[in-house]
Amino acid sequence: MLPSLPLTIIALLLSDVFASPTTPRPNGISMNLRRRVRTRSVEDWGVWAQNQRAGLTAKYGGQFPSQRRSTGTNLITNQDADSSYFGSLAIGTPAVSFDVILDTGSADLWVAGSACSVGCAQIPTFDSSASSSFKNESTAFSITYGSGDAAGALASETVQMAGFSVSNQVLGICDQVSSGLLTSPVSGLLGLAWQSIASSRAIPFWETLASGDSWDSPVMAFQITRFLNESNAQDLEAGGSFTMGFVNSTLYTGDIEYIDMPTSTNSYWILPITAITVQGNSISVSSGTDSYAAIDTGTTLIGGPADEIANIYAQIPDSAPGTGNYEGYYTYPCDTDVVVTLSFGGTSWPISPADFELQEIQRGTCLGSFFVLTTGDSAPSWIVGDTFLKNVYSVFRYSPASVGFAALSTYSLSMNDNVGLEVPSATIGSVSAAATAGTANTNNSNSSSAVPLRSFSLIFTIATTSIVVLSNL
Ligand SMILES: *[C@@H]1O[C@H](CO)[C@@H](O)[C@H](O)[C@H]1NC(C)=O
Ligand SMILES: *[C@@H]1O[C@H](CO)[C@@H](O)[C@H](O)[C@H]1NC(C)=O
Ligand SMILES: *[C@@H]1O[C@H](CO)[C@@H](O)[C@H](O)[C@H]1NC(C)=O
Ligand SMILES: *[C@@H]1O[C@H](CO)[C@@H](O)[C@H](O)[C@H]1NC(C)=O
Ligand SMILES: *[C@@H]1O[C@H](CO)[C@@H](O)[C@H](O)[C@H]1NC(C)=O
Repeated sequence: MLPSLPLTIIALLLSDVFASPTTPRPNGISMNLRRRVRTRSVEDWGVWAQNQRAGLTAKYGGQFPSQRRSTGTNLITNQDADSSYFGSLAIGTPAVSFDVILDTGSADLWVAGSACSVGCAQIPTFDSSASSSFKNESTAFSITYGSGDAAGALASETVQMAGFSVSNQVLGICDQVSSGLLTSPVSGLLGLAWQSIASSRAIPFWETLASGDSWDSPVMAFQITRFLNESNAQDLEAGGSFTMGFVNSTLYTGDIEYIDMPTSTNSYWILPITAITVQGNSISVSSGTDSYAAIDTGTTLIGGPADEIANIYAQIPDSAPGTGNYEGYYTYPCDTDVVVTLSFGGTSWPISPADFELQEIQRGTCLGSFFVLTTGDSAPSWIVGDTFLKNVYSVFRYSPASVGFAALSTYSLSMNDNVGLEVPSATIGSVSAAATAGTANTNNSNSSSAVPLRSFSLIFTIATTSIVVLSNL
């Protein structure tokens, strides 16, 4: 769990500065689904039968009509100038769509329920009484992030995303949500890390699909946009895309470099940081487990051990540790273009100076995106969030368990700072691939071995004092 840092941010800060009305977006769209058999055995039987036929057809050179989609794309929205990235999924029968943070740093799915009053103002909530597929597991659920938590009860429901459907997906329906944890239109969070860190102990949506036969290729991939240094950015901007079952070659160039996860148990998406350079100079980095980093789409910035963060800023003339609300952060002269590279055992990936520069906090003085983080024993030392992930195409591979990066294509790069692009709306295509969640252990959540890292919430708490500072500029 991340400590509750005295920081605060930028989501608030920027949304205030840009205070432009948010275009109303369609939420809570209902759609009718084609009737489906819900018992697992029958469905498994159908999958078996289909595979048999497809296998034989292929073996004998025939053409098997594609009966289900095995790849899917979910368009992402960039919220509050890179503070968080959300996609949409649909829950229930009839299905209702919700925007959820896409978080590779945790493993639970939860949404705010209609009984939520505190922390859910203006947030679309899930009404279980309107869904015929809702099953209340009547087991308490709670999850803690760095600066807030969500609690409620576990349920099982039909969940659809990007053309995939999982019946009996265990998810949290939360009626207690820390205020500020969710920012409208986001209703919850989809955890995309491994089951072992799920507070619900349930098999994550993605893992059911990856381990079953639903995806063409056992991967999910992200391309996310940058609007941090775009003064005309609106609260919501085009965020890129999240794909399941394939990588989209339009979005990257060159090869995808996969690095196997160094851990024997899959928990977070972990890679070792093997080298860091700042302005072309190498800094010394730890080896072994101290070098482990969670690759986390749900975290805005990059957090690491105090000594290594100090080493990074030591390469930047006139940088200084932040004080007060900025404790744990560093400041540096805004006119310095800082280039930090990270490598995980192969290519050295540069981070744009536009991502390193988090915010001007006084005239000419900027806050850097790398901050000091002290993680618990079960979490990796580093959290590599969107500050880095905006600079690469990132691929999360189920088997062999690994994370891959590739350079962004010109197409992807052209989306950065592009305020003219359409913001995706929350829609779900018709379902053409279905799976049933495996036996989920819904035994109550003594949050398991590892506590999920806070993710998006870090950003939501940066203080009102920042706003004061900014207005003094
Ligand atoms: C599910 O059951 C629990 C405990 O029985 C109850 O507190 C909760 O309100 C129910 N949730 C929904 C969404 O019906
Ligand atoms: C890949 O991405 C491009 C750009 O978003 C899109 O036009 C194309 O349809 C995508 N390809 C597939 C196979 O989804
Ligand atoms: C931010 O954008 C401005 C205007 O395009 C540009 O001059 C500046 O170099 C950018 N800052 C960084 C750190 O990239
Ligand atoms: C829940 O926990 C109990 C006691 O630890 C155990 O007997 C039971 O099998 C567990 N249920 C599931 C679904 O794992
Ligand atoms: C939850 O944790 C407490 C304290 O660690 C322990 O006593 C209890 O048995 C645990 N319950 C379950 C269901 O794991």
